[in-house]
Amino acid sequence: MSLPPALELSLDLLCCPTCRTRRLHPDHGALRCPVGHTFDIARHGYVSLLTGTRATSGDDTAMAQARDRFLSTGAYAPIRTAVSGLAGESVPERATVLDVGCGTGYYLAGVLGRLPGARGLGLDTSVRALRSAARAHQRAAAASWDVFRPFPVAGAVADVVLDVFAPRNPAEFHRVLRPTGRLIVVRPTGRHLAELRGRVPAMITIDPAKEQRLHRALAPFFDAVVTERVEYPMALVESDALDMVAMTPSARHVSRAELNHDDLLPDQVTVSVLATAYQAR
Ligand SMILES: C[S@@+](CC[C@H](N)C(=O)[O-])C[C@H]1O[C@@H](n2cnc3c(N)ncnc32)[C@H](O)[C@@H]1O
Ligand SMILES: [Zn+2]
Repeated sequence: MSLPPALELSLDLLCCPTCRTRRLHPDHGALRCPVGHTFDIARHGYVSLLTGTRATSGDDTAMAQARDRFLSTGAYAPIRTAVSGLAGESVPERATVLDVGCGTGYYLAGVLGRLPGARGLGLDTSVRALRSAARAHQRAAAASWDVFRPFPVAGAVADVVLDVFAPRNPAEFHRVLRPTGRLIVVRPTGRHLAELRGRVPAMITIDPAKEQRLHRALAPFFDAVVTERVEYPMALVESDALDMVAMTPSARHVSRAELNHDDLLPDQVTVSVLATAYQAR
């Protein structure tokens, strides 16, 4: 099997997760370090760097599929536009973009679309999400990794790190970013999908202290440069509503039959997120 082109483009960013050597080379459908640690390249195009350990968290197949279907409706396109706008400011022409907890690669693809000379790498624990991420854009590579472990990525290589609705590792974000690079964090406000949350008790509520916790976690490493609020009403057709519920972890046990019951689902919801660009301290 030949090396997927996007992976070839990003190969020099990677280091061996086991011995930290930076030279991984392709070898019979795998990547191998000089010491011989070997990581399979899935036929779907992503490389499995997370071997021998269980991920601490991640989306299962049903959640990743629901996310894929939902995002393909374009309902979150305004969020993607905001992220691409923030990422596109003051980056070099040949930028490197790292998307942590990339999911299906929807936002990474948007950013790469805006930056014709850039290359991207998405990290996630969910193999079903990575299958989509590896196909999301011709310059987007994808690798399995757990955000809570030291990234299999060399230091000071990224111009942009994206973290969109995903778990965070501020110390690692800081290590992999160039000094001039930017971290972009997207998270929901308390109003996000409030109409749906109100009617589907199994959906996670948004912790009011979330903003404070985010600030405390990032403050040792980053200063906020600019924050954009993206807020709009979104008409909700039933199939999208079902997917939105299905892509949230705590809703795993809500059945479609339950959701379809009576008028449980609202026909309109508010999308409300904050997107902040940070610079390294
Ligand atoms: C809410 S989704 C967001 C995905 C994508 N950024 C988006 O907005 O479409 C959270 C993502 O984080 C991933 N994730 C959860 N825990 C993770 C971990 N410990 N390491 C890496 N990824 C993780 C999930 O598999 C999922 O794809
Ligand atoms: Zn090695």
